[in-house]
Amino acid sequence: MMLVLITDTPEEGSRIARSLVAQAINQTPALRLGLAAGNTPLGLYRNLVDLHRTMRLDFSQVRLFSLDEFIGLPNDSPHSYHSFFHRNLIDHVNFDPAHLHLLRGQAEEDIASYCVSYERFIRNQGGIDLQILGIGQNGHLGFNEPGSSLNSRTRRILLSASTKHNLARIFDGEPIPEWAVTMGLGTIREARTLLLLAFGAHKAEVVAKAVEGPLSAFTPVSSIQLHPRVVLVLDREAAGFLKNQEYYRQESSQVMNSNQWFQEP
Ligand code: GLP
Repeated sequence: MMLVLITDTPEEGSRIARSLVAQAINQTPALRLGLAAGNTPLGLYRNLVDLHRTMRLDFSQVRLFSLDEFIGLPNDSPHSYHSFFHRNLIDHVNFDPAHLHLLRGQAEEDIASYCVSYERFIRNQGGIDLQILGIGQNGHLGFNEPGSSLNSRTRRILLSASTKHNLARIFDGEPIPEWAVTMGLGTIREARTLLLLAFGAHKAEVVAKAVEGPLSAFTPVSSIQLHPRVVLVLDREAAGFLKNQEYYRQESSQVMNSNQWFQEP
């Protein structure tokens, strides 16, 4: 199933994503949840914090993993994804610190063996149930840059010029790391459900390639086409270049009404 949900605004998209994640946590309290950084999921994280405060959504058994991280930044750097997840979600809800397994870019040990051990750890924990994803404008998924093998595994990767250009905004004059560590495209596809968010006209071209374009290592996000259960939450602008919009609208309203989008793993 590749379910494409088209909402009117990013706010509505974030609320729908919030309901999907909350439903998954309510069904599976010890949900193994993979987080993504970036601007796009911020509204979702804000909504989850609100739901924790108002409806006591319980994160105490949820196991947290993450997609990617910069190499060479200390965890407490304001620009690390580690800080990002703490600032925008972890510090505001009731995670058990023993359940936080964010990917580290500061691995003291050899990075290649650290990546292998991270994958082994995910497997030993039973795999990721729900992986949240954004899309890079150049088609990257996590930090899998164009040219990444569709079966790639967690590894160190050199950031492309276009990714660094987009990151300049958040680094605000500070030096941008050259390298990152990222779950591979093969690793990401092992998650049972992928929840991919994209908002805004600047994502329309890459969204069309991801959903309707050819499967290509040059558009790493197109590898979601190989996954059996993907939910995309888009706003109208990000969905703007999709050819099959009417069908997606019909299909998603049927599936959402039946409340069957997330079944227990
Ligand atoms: C970064 C992250 C990705 C993220 C992408 C999109 O490069 N590594 O995981 O999906 O940017 O970011 P944004 O949501 O800010 O557009």
